[in-house]
Amino acid sequence: MKNHLWSLLSVLLVASCGPQDQPKETSTSFEQTWWKEGILYQIYPQSFKDTDGDGFGDFQGIIEKLDYIESLGITMVWMNPFFESPLVDNGYDVADYRAVLPRYGTMDDFQQMLDGFHQRGIKFVLDVVVNHSSIDHEWFKQSRSSRDNPYRDYYHWWPAENGEPPYRHSLFDPEGAWEYDSLSNAYYLHTFAEEQPDLNWENPKLRQEVYDIMKFWAEKGVDGFRMDAFQFASKDTTWPEFPEGHEKDFIKWYGMRPQLHEYLKEMYHEVLEKYDVFAVAEGAGSTFEDAHKLVDADRQELQMAYHFESVDMSRTPDGYELADFKEVFTKWDSAFAENGWIAIFLSNHDNARLVNRFGNPDPEFRTPSTQMLNTFLLSMRGTPFTYYGDEIGMTNMDMPKIEEYVDVEAKGKYKAALAAGEDMERFMEILNYSSRENGRTPMQWDDSENAGFTTGTPWKRVNENYLEINVAAQEKDPNSILNHFRKMAQVRNENPVLVYGNYELLQKDHPTVYAFTRTLEEEKMLVLLNFSEENSSITLDEIGDLDQIVINNYPDLDTSEGSITLLPYQAAIVKIN
Ligand code: NOJ
Repeated sequence: MKNHLWSLLSVLLVASCGPQDQPKETSTSFEQTWWKEGILYQIYPQSFKDTDGDGFGDFQGIIEKLDYIESLGITMVWMNPFFESPLVDNGYDVADYRAVLPRYGTMDDFQQMLDGFHQRGIKFVLDVVVNHSSIDHEWFKQSRSSRDNPYRDYYHWWPAENGEPPYRHSLFDPEGAWEYDSLSNAYYLHTFAEEQPDLNWENPKLRQEVYDIMKFWAEKGVDGFRMDAFQFASKDTTWPEFPEGHEKDFIKWYGMRPQLHEYLKEMYHEVLEKYDVFAVAEGAGSTFEDAHKLVDADRQELQMAYHFESVDMSRTPDGYELADFKEVFTKWDSAFAENGWIAIFLSNHDNARLVNRFGNPDPEFRTPSTQMLNTFLLSMRGTPFTYYGDEIGMTNMDMPKIEEYVDVEAKGKYKAALAAGEDMERFMEILNYSSRENGRTPMQWDDSENAGFTTGTPWKRVNENYLEINVAAQEKDPNSILNHFRKMAQVRNENPVLVYGNYELLQKDHPTVYAFTRTLEEEKMLVLLNFSEENSSITLDEIGDLDQIVINNYPDLDTSEGSITLLPYQAAIVKIN
C-alpha cells in the first residue's frame, strides 16, 4: 500500500451534491436500458397502506404514499398480485386475470395509481401468475366439469381408471401434487396448493390466452412483467416415474424443460417486443447455462432473472458464512459479466426480513447493519430489488406458535414435518426465523395505532416495534436507515459505474469485510462493507488513490496506519483515482 494514498482522502459526501453530478456518458459492453439502470421497490399491496378501514391495504393507500415512494429514489415498482382471487395464497391464486380484487379498489383506482407512478417517472411491474390459476378461475370450473369440455386441456389431468398417477411433489401440499376430483373421476396437478391447479402450457390456446392477458395490461401502460414460478410452466408430460428423493433437486425435475424456451420465445414475439416492456423470471434454473438461456439478449426470451442462491443461504437461525455470501454473489457476477442480466435481492415477500437474515436486528446494530446491506444491494451489478419496509429496517415478528400462521406454505410445511416425525421444537424455531410471514407485516408508517397502516383491524398483526421503527421517526433523523437508503439510491442513480461497471472482489478470504471495486472506463469505486459487530481492518495494496467518500454510514472512515478500519457494520464507498 502506498501511504500517500490515504492523505488524499477527502470526506466529501457526493450523495448530497447538486446537479453537477449528472450521469456521465459511458461506454459499456452492455446495451444500456432503463430496466438495467433502475432501482426496483417491491410493494406487497395487502400490507402497504389501508384507506378504507378494512385492515387490508388498497390502491388509494398506495396513491396516498406516491410521494413517499418517489422520495426513496427508486425508479421501478413491482407489486404483488392484486387480481380477483380467493386469497388462498394471498393472490397467487388468480380467479380472473383481468379484474382487480375489490378490496384493493376499482380498475379506475388502479389506473389512477399507475398514472401516479408514471407522472413521477416510476415504471410499474406486474406480477404474472400463469404457472397455475385458482380453482375459482372460470377456465378451471369449465375444465373440471367434464372430460370433453373445451377447457379440459387448459390443465393437466390424469384419468383415475389409469390407476394412481406417478408421484409428484408439491411445494405446499404434503400429500403431493395430484388431487383427485370426483366430478370427472380424474386427478389434476398442482405444484403449489391444491387450490392452485397448474395450467397446461402445451396447449397453444392457453398460451394465447396468457399473451392476451399480458397485452391487456401492457395496453393499460404497465412497463414490465414478473413471471411467477415460470420455470415450472413446462413439464415432462410423458409422466415418467421419478426416482426416490428427486424432489430435493426440484428445479431439475419439475422445471426448465426444453419447451420452456419455445414458449418464452413465442411470448417475446407476441408480447414483449411489441411494447417497451421487460420481463423478469422468478428463478434462473439450476445452472448458469439455464440462466443464460433465459436472459441473454440474443435469445429473445426474457430480459432478467433472479436466482435463489443468496436467500437460500440463510434459512435457519444458525446464520450464514460471509465467505459463502461473497462466493455466491461473485460467481453470479462473473457468469453475467459479458452477457445477460440478473436482479440482485436479499429479501422479498417469500422471505423473512433482510436485517434478521443477513444483518443484526439488535437495537444497537440494526441501523448500521441495515444501512450496510442496502449499500451492498445498491452497489452491485444487476438491478437491485428492494422490499418495502427494508428501507426503514423493519424486522421479523416473533411468532412461536403455529396457530398464528395464516400462510399456506407455513401450514403445509408444518403438516409435513409432523408427518415426518421431525423435532417440532426445532421446526418452530426455524419457521419463526425464516417464515415468509415475517416479511408481510403491515408497513410501519408512524407511532399511531397500528403503525398508521389502518384505522381498522389489520389483516396481519403489526410488529410491536413500530413505536420505535417507523417512517415518521426516520424522516426526522438525517442518519436514519431511511435517509441512508435515499442517499444510496441517489448515488446509484448518478453513477453509471455502479450499474454497468466491472466488479472485482478484493481480499476474498477476509473473514468480516466484503470489499470490491466497480470500474467503468476511468471511473473506479471501492465498496467497503463490514459484516461484523466488531471493528475490522483491511489492508488493500495497489488499489489506487482513495479520493472522495461517496457515501458512508458513519461520520468518518479511519484510514490511518496504512489500513482501513471499519466500525461495526460500517459501509462506505470511495472513489479511486
Ligand atoms: C412464487 C411466489 O413468489 C409465492 O409467493 C407464491 O406462493 C408461489 N410462487 C406460488 O404462486
